[in-house]
Amino acid sequence: MLKKWWHNTIGYQIYPKSFQDTNEDGIGDLKGIIAHLDDLADLGINVIWLCPINKSPMKDHGYDVSDYEEIDPMFGCKEDLQELILEAEKRGIKILMDLVINHTSSEHPWFQKALKNPDGEYGKYYIIKEGKDGKEPNNWRSIFGGSAWEPIKDTNLYYLHLFTKWQPDLNWENPILREKIYKMINGWLNLGIRGFRVDAISHLKKDFSYTNLPPDGNDGYVNGFPYFSNVNGIGTFLNELKENTFQRYDAMTIGEVDENLPSDIFSDFVGENGYFSTIFDFCHAELHVNSAQWKNKPIAFIDELKKVLFAKQAVVKGKGMLCNYLENHDLSRVVERFIPEKEIDFYSKSMVGGINFFMPGIVFLYQGQTIGMMDYKKETIKSFQDPTTFILYEEYLKSGITEAEALAQINLKTREHARTPMQWNANPYAGFSQVEPWFGVNPNYNEINYEAQKNNSHSLYAFYKKMIALRKSEEYQELFIYGDFIPKYETESGIIGYQRNLGNKSVLIINNAKSEETALPITEKIKKVLISNYNNDILSNESIHLQRYQFVVLELDSSIK
Ligand code: NOJ
Repeated sequence: MLKKWWHNTIGYQIYPKSFQDTNEDGIGDLKGIIAHLDDLADLGINVIWLCPINKSPMKDHGYDVSDYEEIDPMFGCKEDLQELILEAEKRGIKILMDLVINHTSSEHPWFQKALKNPDGEYGKYYIIKEGKDGKEPNNWRSIFGGSAWEPIKDTNLYYLHLFTKWQPDLNWENPILREKIYKMINGWLNLGIRGFRVDAISHLKKDFSYTNLPPDGNDGYVNGFPYFSNVNGIGTFLNELKENTFQRYDAMTIGEVDENLPSDIFSDFVGENGYFSTIFDFCHAELHVNSAQWKNKPIAFIDELKKVLFAKQAVVKGKGMLCNYLENHDLSRVVERFIPEKEIDFYSKSMVGGINFFMPGIVFLYQGQTIGMMDYKKETIKSFQDPTTFILYEEYLKSGITEAEALAQINLKTREHARTPMQWNANPYAGFSQVEPWFGVNPNYNEINYEAQKNNSHSLYAFYKKMIALRKSEEYQELFIYGDFIPKYETESGIIGYQRNLGNKSVLIINNAKSEETALPITEKIKKVLISNYNNDILSNESIHLQRYQFVVLELDSSIK
């Protein structure tokens, strides 16, 4: 594999609205990120991905851009971003931005002009179609629910929005639009941005046949993914995008691909000449130990998780690198998703953190993950903020369940759990702000906060720091980046184990994802315990003894293989 600068990435995703407020408006800002760069450097990360900071009416919290060239004043200004880039660089950290180019905000001037004159120049920037028999052009369902089409007032025309109605899809078939997008991207790269996380990228191309399909729900709509996800010909757009922008700057790019990429096109996406450096893949994103399917079956749940993670490694092997992440701004907190509630503690949290940390690929962490932030379940639907939560809530009610049941469903899985303000210390509002934040702080901040953990060598934060240091260490870095991946103990329920081998180095990683102790056979000699979340002696009589939720990284003596 050709070596690239970003191969050693230990990334950290920041949701700027909830990271640190410095101007007392209750909303996080760029200066707040600058203020914490030393903390991030202390953790050991080397890349930051900023969720959208462009000008936006914030209907989808920045994923609805109304001006690609500007920073939203709630976050600061371009000078702040420049300062962030420079200060981060001094600490060996590179900055990636979020690039939202499948759609704009409905307040973007392009769209406003398109509404005024759908047949004019800007009408061609969007996907606008005639309705059929007084109805939408077809029955596609938006990814966020309801029709994917919104009528344009006083016309028989509709515009396409795969996400909310405030996010009209751009028409990538239009070369003039594409040129404008490339110019905008290069502007940010010229400013010193080292790459992008590229939003909703598999949806750029649409199949324009627009036939109605048999509905797959009571709403009369249908999930139209085959017509707007990885549609034949998308590669031409993605290649052109890369060649006109990223490639010229040796930028790092992470494509967000929200469905299973067929294995035969994996190399097109992440291969040496792929469209992107790597992708965020969703294989584990839907799995929740407390969902109806897995409730009271935590071990079967872990086995399923192991199956999908290992299968993905098999698919990507030899083709490129995956981005190993567990949390992001669209998911509830990972420990809540993977561990039954009464089992959540330091041991299960640290074991979860290790689940894919040493797998081939790069690593991405999400703010709050390294201190074990948890979901803040709300007592009323009014305490939520995101339009998609309300759309979903209405859908639940329409399906016939009670308000209490609908709220319970939202509390189980809402992506808003990831967006509560960062818990920095035990001061009011968790040190995130001096004034009431835009979104409720989890009341558990007195116990779970950064300050309480940063100097405690037994904390979750210290554990993550150790894992990062090991992955980045001169001695083991190459092994964790380029080493082979060999599944181990595959048929052992509740165990996720694998070996990484490179040259004469060999490391065995084991997660005991069970609430009971376990003993596993081992034929190799253990040279060194590189990481463990317990202080126990694990070895006796050719077997490894693991405590409940124990996680270990063991160097094997390869001379005795
Ligand atoms: C994926 C982003 O992660 C999500 O937050 C957003 O709502 C959609 N794309 C639409 O941009």
